[in-house]
Amino acid sequence: MRRFEGKAVLVTGGATGIGFATALRFAREGASVAIMGRRASVGEEALAELRRHAPQERTLFVRGDVSSEADVERCVEETVQAFGRIDALVNNAAMASSVELVRAGTEEWKPVFDVIAFGTYFCTRAVARRMIERGEGGAIVNVSSINAYRALPFSSHYNAAKGASDQLMRCAAVELAEHGIRVNAVQPGFIDTPMSFVDGENELETDWFKDIYVQRRKIPQARAGGPEEVASVVAFLASEDASYVCGAAIPVDGGLSVTF
Ligand SMILES: NC(=O)c1ccc[n+]([C@@H]2O[C@H](COP(=O)([O-])OP(=O)(O)OC[C@H]3O[C@@H](n4cnc5c(N)ncnc54)[C@H](O)[C@@H]3O)[C@@H](O)[C@H]2O)c1
Repeated sequence: MRRFEGKAVLVTGGATGIGFATALRFAREGASVAIMGRRASVGEEALAELRRHAPQERTLFVRGDVSSEADVERCVEETVQAFGRIDALVNNAAMASSVELVRAGTEEWKPVFDVIAFGTYFCTRAVARRMIERGEGGAIVNVSSINAYRALPFSSHYNAAKGASDQLMRCAAVELAEHGIRVNAVQPGFIDTPMSFVDGENELETDWFKDIYVQRRKIPQARAGGPEEVASVVAFLASEDASYVCGAAIPVDGGLSVTF
C-alpha cells in the first residue's frame, strides 16, 4: 500500500519507539516524513535508518522541544520549507515518570503536562493553521494511551495529561472539521518501546507483568504489542481509509481495556 504518495507528515518524538515505527510506516507508504525530537544524535541516527527505506529528499530531522512554542513554530516552518506542505501531524512525543500522588509536586507534574498537553496543543495549533491556509484539509493523530481513561497507581500526572490531550483531540476535531481536517487518537496499552523501561527495568520482562497480563490473560491477547502495531493504526487514521472517522480514540491494547 502506498497511500501517502505526494503527502508530507510530521511525527513528534519520531526518533524512537512508536514514533519511529510510525515515521517508517509513512515513509514506506510513499510520504515525505519529518521527525521532530530534542536530541540531535538520536534524531540523526533515526534519520539514517529512515533513509535506508526512503530517498533522502523525503526524510528530515527537525530538532526541537514540543513544549516550546518557538521550537514548534520553527520545526513546522522547517518541515513546510523542506516539503512544501504538511498533510498529517502525529502528536506522539511524551514523557512519563512514576510517583505517588501525595508525594508528587510541580516538578513532576509540570514537565509531563508541558510535553503531553501543551506540546500537543502547540503542534496541533501550528500545523492546523498551515493546513487551513493551504485549504486542502489534513489529518492529525494523537498517540494517547489507555491511561487517558483507566487508572493505575503512581501515574496521576501522566494519566491526567493524556486525558487532557484526548479531550483536546475531540475539541480540535469539532472545530477543524469544517476545514477538512480530521483529528483522532490511538490509545496504546502495553507496547514494547523505550518507555517500557521504568527505573532501568523493562516492565514487560517482570514477573508481575508476565503473571497478571500474560499468564492470567489480563491482556486477552496475552502479550505486549509492537510499535509497528500502533503505527499501522496511526497510518489508517491519517489515510483516506478513515475519511469518515472524526474525533475517535481507538484502543490498540490487545483487549486490555475491555477486561476488568
Ligand atoms: N510504550 C507504551 O507502552 C505506551 C503505552 C501507551 C501510550 N504510549 C505513548 O506512545 C507515545 C510514544 O512513546 P513510546 O512508547 O514510543 O516511547 P519513547 O520514549 O520511545 O517515545 C517518546 C518520544 O518522545 C520524545 N520526547 C519526549 N519529550 C519530548 C519533547 N519535549 N519534545 C520532543 N520530543 C520529546 C522522546 O525523546 C521519545 O523519542 C507516547 O505518547 C506514549 O505516551 C506508549
